[in-house]
Amino acid sequence: MLDQQTKDIIKATIPVLEQHGTTITQTFYKNMFAAHPELLNIFNKTNQKQGRQPMALASTVLAAAKHIDNLGDILPHVMQIGHKHRALEIKAEHYPIVGENLLIAIKEVLGDAATPEIIDAWAKAYGVIADVFIQVEQAMYDKAAWQGFKPFKVVNKRPVSDSIVEFTVTADFPLPKVEAGQYITVRVQPKGEENLSLRHYSICSVDTSTGLKFAVKREGTGERKGLVSHYLHDEIQVGDTLEFTAPAGDFLLAESDKPLVLVSGGVGITPVVAMLEQQVNQNPARPIYWVHSCFNEKNHAFKAEVETLLEKAQHAVAHIVYTENAPRIDVNFVKQHLPQGSDVYLCGSIGFMEDVLAALKESGWAESDIHFEPFGPKMSVVSV
Ligand code: HEM
Repeated sequence: MLDQQTKDIIKATIPVLEQHGTTITQTFYKNMFAAHPELLNIFNKTNQKQGRQPMALASTVLAAAKHIDNLGDILPHVMQIGHKHRALEIKAEHYPIVGENLLIAIKEVLGDAATPEIIDAWAKAYGVIADVFIQVEQAMYDKAAWQGFKPFKVVNKRPVSDSIVEFTVTADFPLPKVEAGQYITVRVQPKGEENLSLRHYSICSVDTSTGLKFAVKREGTGERKGLVSHYLHDEIQVGDTLEFTAPAGDFLLAESDKPLVLVSGGVGITPVVAMLEQQVNQNPARPIYWVHSCFNEKNHAFKAEVETLLEKAQHAVAHIVYTENAPRIDVNFVKQHLPQGSDVYLCGSIGFMEDVLAALKESGWAESDIHFEPFGPKMSVVSV
């Protein structure tokens, strides 16, 4: 436990650290990768270039510090991040490296204002926060369907839209039961790359009888080209081997009799199509509202699969929004088409999530009825 004086120092210094958040984060990553180049095998290089995700780590430490009196308040966020860390094989021994470099960055950015008392208080606070993550993640390692990265063989590769490919992979051990909404994490080393790259991809079917299925969108072009997605699309063929850690994630479908609203944008359809499948298998009587938004029909992934699944549901309504010639989902759409009192599951890009979340909240949805997973760091869509 932290003493009162330490807590007071932490609370007094959070605003100034937040103000310098971007500089601290940049300094932190620069120093950490210089001292520990092996970590470049874990962190996402494309995210580092694009900026949004790197903010997540340092800004979450600050957010956690705000709740230092009762870290239990932020446990759901720790769980969500913990799933990602477990899937990336982040271990207890990594935490002191992050802590040390965060303190060095604070000192570098604040200069003389970072007195020894302030640095000492932050060292203690980081230790407490890190211990919570380490404990949560250890419990996840203990429960994981397998440990570490295991090799899988690609047995099928098929396009499901003009930019999304579905892969089916099998292992030399029986596959565990998977839950709709979970993701798997692949580790690859594209040709010419010095480092390994890790990426999470949503599992797109709960039926693993022919293998584990996940879908990958070819991301970006030129400077913003997605290193791993292009590699998987262009280089990986049936017969090749890929390595994965065990399924992870807390974006899971809960059984209920309330109407179910499934909303997805673009490749955000991948976990949500698995939810539709799981729901119609378990209870086809539950009313389902299916909402999918993408640019046009060519981009419309899993169109035929969704139509077949919706036919199995006893009460299903579908709304497909092609943004090429229709307005984006907004508050009018939500009020007109979605039933109040339903459970909403939502997945898409950060921008799509922000729009739909705002529309749902404006239409009176309780936060507890909205479940979502952005493709990108969730901490950039929630406030803690
Ligand atoms: C991702 C927080 C420690 C490596 C994240 C995310 C958050 C976060 C918020 C984004 C999750 C999402 O995508 O929704 C924290 C906090 C830490 C901590 C608060 C300390 C208390 C560590 C450590 C490592 C690490 C010790 C390993 C050295 C990563 C990696 C990602 C990640 C590799 C994926 C993002 C990327 O590749 O850029 N972390 N983290 N984190 N974290 Fe941590």
